[in-house]
Amino acid sequence: QNSVKELNKITSKNLESILNNNKHWADSGAVATYIPELAKVNPNKIAFSVVKPNGDVVNVGNIDQKFTMQSISKIVALFIAVKQYGENDFFKRLGYYGTDKPFNHFANLDNGGKPLNPMMNAGAILTTAMISNEGEDGYLRIRDMVRYITKNNSIDYNHAVYQSERETGHRNRGMFHILKNSELITGEENKLDNYFKQCSIEVTAEDLAKIGYFFANDCVRFDGDATYKNADLAQLVESQMLIAGMYDASGVYARNVGLPSKSGVGGGIAVAVPNKMGIGVYSAPLDAAGNSVAGYHMILELVKQYDLSIF
Ligand code: DON
Repeated sequence: QNSVKELNKITSKNLESILNNNKHWADSGAVATYIPELAKVNPNKIAFSVVKPNGDVVNVGNIDQKFTMQSISKIVALFIAVKQYGENDFFKRLGYYGTDKPFNHFANLDNGGKPLNPMMNAGAILTTAMISNEGEDGYLRIRDMVRYITKNNSIDYNHAVYQSERETGHRNRGMFHILKNSELITGEENKLDNYFKQCSIEVTAEDLAKIGYFFANDCVRFDGDATYKNADLAQLVESQMLIAGMYDASGVYARNVGLPSKSGVGGGIAVAVPNKMGIGVYSAPLDAAGNSVAGYHMILELVKQYDLSIF
């Protein structure tokens, strides 16, 4: 494995050649259309960001392009929930399992069963319900944590995407009500709205690299701020990213990339290189599992070049 010293030498030139080698992969994917507002994004925008071990940021491509976090918000919600409940109590309501099912599957929910894990929609909807009380407070806790990790106080949710998610999120609403039926969730649909809002939080690839860095480095922020330092919790989040962060593609992804990663259908992927650095990529066209195709290939080339796999 590459030393921290080598990684601190990564330049925008290095990342630019990786971006240029892999941007063509976007042609083989398809932008998510199941949420109508997501279908409107430009498939040609692409961005690549790394937060090096020393905390310096390297950005290339359309780095100012904002996109919605979608499922990447689930790792921040998980962090907040386990901090609040403690790991034992939190995992009384859901599992640590990996999956062979797509992200929106009703796996294991029938007959009072628990969600498989906090990365698939059912587990994430439950997680957010658990940290929600009144109105949008659960969403605000997630937003404020994203603002803290990225040191970017302009972060907010995209209202058009939120409305679109809410209007078309019938499967998610179904899961919410099944979880109410099994008494894993109590309370009203504002708690589900918080899930739609967290998915609609807008970020850049740089923000994702900072999130990856945070979980890679014991929940210490890229600038060294250690307010939330917690090695144990970082390990838990990274383990969930590794086994379920890329959904049913997690096993293949772990074999090829070998790093805790979390994708979102907005086209972003946040990657933690344990005890080293964070990677953030953006390119909207997705593969069949809902993961950014060009994003995956950029990560893969960086991993091969710098021998970053944990295995
Ligand atoms: O729940 C949904 O359908 C989306 N708002 C989030 C799902 C997501 O990002 C899954 N991803 N790869």
